[in-house]
Amino acid sequence: MNRTKLLAANWKLNKLTGEAAEFVREYAAKLPASPVPTVLLPTNTALQAVASACKESGKTPSELAFGAQNCYFQSSGAFTGEVSPEMLVDLGCRYVVLGHSERRAIFGESDDLIGLKVAAALKAGLTPIFCIGETLEERNAGKLEYVLARQVKVGLANIEEAQLDKVVVAYEPVWAIGTGVVATPEQAQAAHKYVRELLAKKNSEAAMKMQILYGGSVKPDNCYELMTQPDIDGALVGGASLKVDSLLELHKECTRASR
Ligand code: 13P
Repeated sequence: MNRTKLLAANWKLNKLTGEAAEFVREYAAKLPASPVPTVLLPTNTALQAVASACKESGKTPSELAFGAQNCYFQSSGAFTGEVSPEMLVDLGCRYVVLGHSERRAIFGESDDLIGLKVAAALKAGLTPIFCIGETLEERNAGKLEYVLARQVKVGLANIEEAQLDKVVVAYEPVWAIGTGVVATPEQAQAAHKYVRELLAKKNSEAAMKMQILYGGSVKPDNCYELMTQPDIDGALVGGASLKVDSLLELHKECTRASR
């Protein structure tokens, strides 16, 4: 099956509003025609600036879209400091990252909480970018498949079978995030294949359509080799997405890998 690739830029806790808007203007101006959409994922305070700059760029969401890095599962109420999926939709977001390993490790997010968030995001009309991945300790203990199976099972427990293909999965081995130690194409492909098998147990037709992104130290010089693996359908990039030229290079490599 020929799945379209997706390039997602997770800016994490970076960029003030002016920097984010300037980035979008420059990136959009240099972005060539391609079947590969770019999804920008700024911090919440820069979402409005990114939304305006994307609109002004004249790019369609299939060329340039944006989303948030997290949200809560409730629509409104007494949840100080949280942002709801509906609020993100209101800003024009199409995507939301959920279950990122930094949310799991630093902010204590459980598989159960992530499962509630995935369902709420879908209900609001967002595409969740649902992140999973093992730590080095888990991998070395031979628990890779066990961990991925648990994360997929609980994280996707609250959604209908028919909604499954509306989820984008991101496999991000924790040991590869921000470390410069990228998974080899073989390691990444093996994990992606396994994740697709897990998804196929829920809905085999959906599993073939679903995009599974790889994340963890993706750079312009390792991108193509990863993206040409049969079960890798795009990249979720942190550090290398923060500079316009670097993100353009990544986009070029994803486009080349789509041919
Ligand atoms: P790096 O690309 O900086 O390793 O970050 C990956 C990541 O966490 C994307 O969500």
